[in-house]
Parts: sequence; structure tokens; C-alpha cells
Amino acid sequence: MTGNKSVQYELSAEEMLEIILNYAAKISGESDLETLLILMSEMGRRLVRADRCTLWLIDHEKKRLWTKVAQGMERIDMPADSGFAGFSVQTGEAVLVKDAYLDERFNPSIDKKTNYRTRSVLCIPIRSFGQEVIGVYQAIHKGIGWFSEKDAKTLSLAASYMGKSIQAAILHSELVKTQREIIFKMGEVSESRSQETGQHVKRVAKYSRMLAKLAGLPETEAQMLELASPMHDIGKVAIPDHILKKPGRLTAEEYSMMKTHTTEGYNIFRSSTRQIFKTAAIIAHEHHEKWDGTGYPRGLKGEEIHLYARITAITDVFDALGSDRVYKKAWPLDQIIEFIDKERGGHFDPNLVNLFLDNIDVFITIRKQYEDSV
Ligand code: C2E
Ligand code: SIN
Ligand code: SIN
Ligand code: SIN
Ligand code: FE
Ligand code: FE
Repeated sequence: MTGNKSVQYELSAEEMLEIILNYAAKISGESDLETLLILMSEMGRRLVRADRCTLWLIDHEKKRLWTKVAQGMERIDMPADSGFAGFSVQTGEAVLVKDAYLDERFNPSIDKKTNYRTRSVLCIPIRSFGQEVIGVYQAIHKGIGWFSEKDAKTLSLAASYMGKSIQAAILHSELVKTQREIIFKMGEVSESRSQETGQHVKRVAKYSRMLAKLAGLPETEAQMLELASPMHDIGKVAIPDHILKKPGRLTAEEYSMMKTHTTEGYNIFRSSTRQIFKTAAIIAHEHHEKWDGTGYPRGLKGEEIHLYARITAITDVFDALGSDRVYKKAWPLDQIIEFIDKERGGHFDPNLVNLFLDNIDVFITIRKQYEDSV
């Protein structure tokens, strides 16, 4: 009985309040959904003194429940109707069981995977403003003792208090995802018209992020560059097909038409107040400027050219040279490296060329990762 007693010990109101206040401060400042899931799981675990507390969210499209258990670990997921969590989500009811293995709703597969012996389980559905179930709080005990009705109340309280934070974070992450998707689609449109593959924009995105990091830019700016660089050639939508898809060399007149893809791209984005599109405007405008001042459209020189565009100039040419185009065959790698080396201080920023070539292995790895599938 004494053993049970220690497990059944309940927190005082003051102790609970302290836990809630402690986590509320962290939670309210957090917009990253996955970090939020981890924080709220920890809070739930401490409030009801569970061995484990998991916060599952519904992915309606895939009909899965998913969660994040620890920073740096992959998220895990399971079918949306699986186990107690699935039951709670489907019915909108709380579940409180003393021994999972005596209940047919239990899905022991996660126990098997994690070498764990689940005993008492508590599941509380989490609702949005509109009262729709968006996820479930699941607490687990492994040893003796079980969850009480009071634990269920406590976790319900936390769940209703947390619904708003989760919803805000989901909206935020949906927005971020949507933004990313639109951006890649836009990049792909411009590339597919010139018969380049979607992989080209992905590679340029990854190379640009990497080179930005190597150049010492902070993570947020490197991310911005990853998002914006795929749009560098968006202005090609304004170039007529007979030029864009011409199998041979362009005439002088055709080439001067082609060069307008820079200003066309700039005009698409210039009026936007969003950081991401401002960045895209700069890159579209200046990615064909050359360090020695012989580029286009404005003939900018050296550091007059925005660093973002100096970065994209290298990553775009590196990828263009390594790819088949309607007008030319892909170059072998050693020739590409030789070309970039030779253009140090000519076409390209010499400092960036050094960083690029000193770390060429990293770029080759990315290239292999995002190879054109034939
Ligand atoms: P792109 O195919 O994406 O090429 C981007 C940049 O990579 C080029 O900018 C150039 O700096 C470099 N590049 C690509 N292929 C070669 C090459 O074989 N030799 C050298 N030295 N550099 C290369 P650039 O020249 O300003 O061209 C801009 C865009 O104009 C190209 O984008 C492509 O869409 C088009 N273009 C350029 N030359 C021709 C051509 O002879 N025929 C056709 N049909 N299109 C061309
Ligand atoms: C997902 O699609 O990954 C789940 C929905 C979300 O929370 O963004
Ligand atoms: C479940 O049955 O809901 C899964 C239990 C677990 O996570 O171990
Ligand atoms: C975020 O909301 O900060 C990131 C969203 C995501 O994980 O895709
Ligand atoms: Fe271009
Ligand atoms: Fe390109």
C-alpha cells in the first residue's frame, strides 16, 4: 500500500501553478510547432506525474497521428484510429485505463518498439476554438499506480489552455509551408518552360543556403536565401518560346531580349513588402551582374552587387554548367571547377569562389542528393 501511496501522491495547487507558470512563459513565446509539442508534453508529464506524456496531432490528409518526442529526433506517427489515442480522437472522449494490456483498444506495437511496459493510460482530446478535435494528450505510467479522475481534470485543463497555442502554431506552420510550396512552384514554372527540371531550382536553393552559411551569414538569412534563390529566373516567363527553347546559339538580338529576364523578374517582386519577395527581387535583378562590372542589366561592380546575388551567381552557373540545356551539353565537373576558379575576380566574387572551392565536396554531395531523375 505504501508503494502505491508514493505513486498516487498528488501535487498541491501551488506546485501545479508553479509548473504551469514556468511552462506558460516558454510556450507563449514559441511559434515552432514541433518545439511546442515537446514543451507541452513535458508540462503534461510533470502535472500528472506520468512516466511519459505525448501530444499527438491529427494530420487529416494522411489520416495519421503524429508527434515529436525530442529535439533532434524524427517525428513519429501512427494511423489516426490506432490505440487509445486514436480512440480518443475518433470519439472525442477521454480515456482512463488502469492496465492497457487488459483493454482491447490498446496498440502494443509502440511498447514492442521501445521495449516498454505501458500500464495506466490517460488520453484527453484537445479541441480547437471551433470545438473540433485537433489532437490528444496522452499520459502513460509504466509501473504500479494509475491515473486518477483528478489527473484527468488537470490534463483537461491544460489541454483547453493549450488549444489556442497549438492552433496558432499550426496556422503559422501551414502558412510557412504554403509559402514554401508556392515559391518552389513559381521557380519550377520558370524552369520548366526553358525545359530545365525542378531539381535545378532545388539544387540552387541548397547550394545558396550552404554558401551563405560559409560566408558567415546568420541562419535566418541563409534560410531566406534558400527560399528566394529558386525564383532567380522567374522573369523567363516573359521570354518568348522561340528564344527560350532555341536549340542553338542566340543571335545578339535574341540575347539582349533574353537579358530582360532579370528586370522582368525584378518587376514581378519589387512592390512586395514581404522580406522573402524583396530578397527574390534583388536576386532576380542582380544574379547576372559580374564582379568585374561586365555583367547585366546594370553593369554593377564588386560589392555594389548585393551579396545574395553574388552568391546566387556562383550557385546558378555551377548548376547550369553541370546540366544539359536545349542549347548545350553538361560540362564535366573538372571543367566546371576550372571555370569557376578562372572567373575568380572576373565573373565571381573572389572571396566566395575561395569558400566555394575550399568546400567543393559539400556542393558535390548536394548535387548527388538532388540529381535529375532520368
Ligand atoms: P542558363 O542556361 O540557366 O544559364 C545561366 C548562366 O550560366 C549563363 O548566363 C552563363 O553565365 C552560364 N552558362 C550556362 N551555359 C554556359 C556555357 O555553355 N558556357 C559558359 N561560359 N557559361 C554558361 P547567361 O549567359 O547570361 O545566360 C542567361 C540565360 O540565357 C541562360 O540561362 C539561358 O536560358 C539563355 N541562354 C544563354 N545562351 C544561350 C544560347 O546560346 N542558346 C539558348 N537557347 N539560350 C541561351
Ligand atoms: C502535417 O501535415 O504535417 C500536420 C499538420 C500540421 O500541423 O501542419
Ligand atoms: C496507444 O495505444 O495509444 C499507444 C500507446 C503507446 O504510446 O505506447
Ligand atoms: C515553423 O512553424 O517555424 C516551422 C514549420 C514547419 O515545421 O514546417
Ligand atoms: Fe538567369
Ligand atoms: Fe537558373
